[in-house]
Amino acid sequence: MNTIKLISLPCFSEKLIKSFNAIPDDQYLKTEFPFRKRSYNAGKIISNIFHWEESNTLFLQTKDLNQYVGGISRHFVPVPASIREDICQKIIMNAYAQLPASDYKVGVHQIRIFSDTLNQGIPTPEGIHQDGFDFVAVACINTRNVSGGVSVLFDAKDHARIVFEGILTPGTQIVFSDKDFAHYTSNVTPKIPGVAFRDVIVTTFLAI
Ligand SMILES: [Fe+2]
Repeated sequence: MNTIKLISLPCFSEKLIKSFNAIPDDQYLKTEFPFRKRSYNAGKIISNIFHWEESNTLFLQTKDLNQYVGGISRHFVPVPASIREDICQKIIMNAYAQLPASDYKVGVHQIRIFSDTLNQGIPTPEGIHQDGFDFVAVACINTRNVSGGVSVLFDAKDHARIVFEGILTPGTQIVFSDKDFAHYTSNVTPKIPGVAFRDVIVTTFLAI
């Protein structure tokens, strides 16, 4: 699948939307201002069924892939049990339906990018990058008062060639090949002075 799919997702529950208010700050940022909150869980799709890996909340990328925090073993709080079924049915399986048939190792990142009047939120502090998987899906769950946050995909072999550019509105998910495309999201600031946030679920797929 070397194309890019933009899909509409079923309505999200209040429980899923509100769950982002409780995610703790990402402890691995290099700024005083905690611009990212994050939970993470690994899982697997075997024979079309998604299984959460209960205790697998360790996330490690190589320095090659992530110059910002690559090489550091990062532990995050797990994705809350109360929203796992929603995430599985409404987000993961909809992304999976776009992919070539296979079993997959899956990573689920629940992320809030946060900004206020004095501080911008930085969705991709590592810059234009690939995640090191076969496919990546980014689902926008909710936004408030956001200016910026433009999702951009590039030809992986030529970052001067933009192949997609757009703002993911709540209820949309973009699914793309991580081998063929590099990705980036522009920084977030408040549209009107105050706080702003952009809530997404990023799912990674590695064929097994
Ligand atoms: Fe990424």
